[in-house]
Amino acid sequence: SSGSSFVAGLEGVVAAETRISGVDGDAGALTLAGYPVEEISGRASFEEMVYLLWHDELPNTEELAAFRGALAGRRGLPAATLELLRAAGARNVPQMDALRMAAGTLGLDAPDDPALDLVARLPVIVATYHRLLNGQEPVVPDPDLGHAANYLYMLDGERPGEDSVRALETYLNTVSDHGMNASTFAARVIVATRSDLVSAIVGAIGALKGPLHGGAPGPALDVVFEIGEAGNAEPVLREKLRRGERLMGFGHRIYRVRDPRADVLAEAAEKLFATDGDRDLYALALEVEKTALRLLEEHRPGRNLQTNVEFYTALLLHGLGLPTDLFTPTFAIGRVAGWTAHCLEQRSEDRLIRPQSEYVGATDRTWLPAQER
Ligand code: CMC
Repeated sequence: SSGSSFVAGLEGVVAAETRISGVDGDAGALTLAGYPVEEISGRASFEEMVYLLWHDELPNTEELAAFRGALAGRRGLPAATLELLRAAGARNVPQMDALRMAAGTLGLDAPDDPALDLVARLPVIVATYHRLLNGQEPVVPDPDLGHAANYLYMLDGERPGEDSVRALETYLNTVSDHGMNASTFAARVIVATRSDLVSAIVGAIGALKGPLHGGAPGPALDVVFEIGEAGNAEPVLREKLRRGERLMGFGHRIYRVRDPRADVLAEAAEKLFATDGDRDLYALALEVEKTALRLLEEHRPGRNLQTNVEFYTALLLHGLGLPTDLFTPTFAIGRVAGWTAHCLEQRSEDRLIRPQSEYVGATDRTWLPAQER
């Protein structure tokens, strides 16, 4: 044994050196490959963001055109992937499970560039499955549209407006990477065994699904709907806390101040709701946030539980017309940029991730035959 001691949840443990993103939980700052999240998220296209995370530099005009083309050229789903989605749809498999299974099929034909396939195809899988679940035929991808625009187009068959595309790209960029979060760690552990990239991303999707990680925005919006009007915020939230429930969209392992991503997305949501969308809902959500923060301070004084990224994710994606079951899959469509970047980084490091455990069970037991137990 190394003599080091157990830390529950690996809290505070540094598990990698990375150039991809840095999170400063005390200052409330997120750096994406050198750019503050506030600087880049609202400006870059998603293609630029992926390129940046993979290469540590933004692409020039030619590099960007080539990269856009490479991604757009890979949108067609293999027949096996489509077949699986149809079978999943017939059984009403939930979105994130269908995404996990379908992402796994991308490894079937020994892809020449799995990272590119994964980034290009996750949104195609999600949109295709969304259509199938709703009894509609999939929309054929449009190679002339950018990555984010094509996702919106494939969901409902209508070419999205500029404002919607900008809002979605801001969201995808904002969540593209976030330090050693649980799903990214899972992906790095898998790839560090020299396993393949598709396996790593499948594992990451499984980790993202949980409500303590990527599964929060749906429930966060459900709470706003449940509250319905400002006057109900306090009693409803109080009752949840009394029952020991966690308020979804609040609290964070790393941030002790407001999640900077919440600010970026709140601003994007505000813009989106200024032109279209449900202004009453937006106003109600602001009221719910205020009340939640007040009650959380009473609930865990001094812990400084603050709004996290998921609360405004929910509002923004709702404003884009996405149903709640698409929130976590859409998170995956953004985060796959970071997952793949981390896999490439981990691979170049080539060091098995293999921590230790501390044995706290019984010792020196003596075997008893079954009839004597
Ligand atoms: N509502 C009520 N109580 C809370 C909440 C919350 N949202 N968050 C933390 N607490 C309580 C927690 O139960 C604990 O109480 P006790 O000491 O009695 O056990 C205390 O506050 C301290 O918790 P913590 O150590 O700050 O929490 P953690 O680091 O283990 O967990 C978390 C962080 C995000 C899982 C947690 O805050 C949570 O469950 N939030 C709700 C779910 C959510 O919004 N998740 C999305 C996270 S952001 C997306 C991402 O980056 O992946």
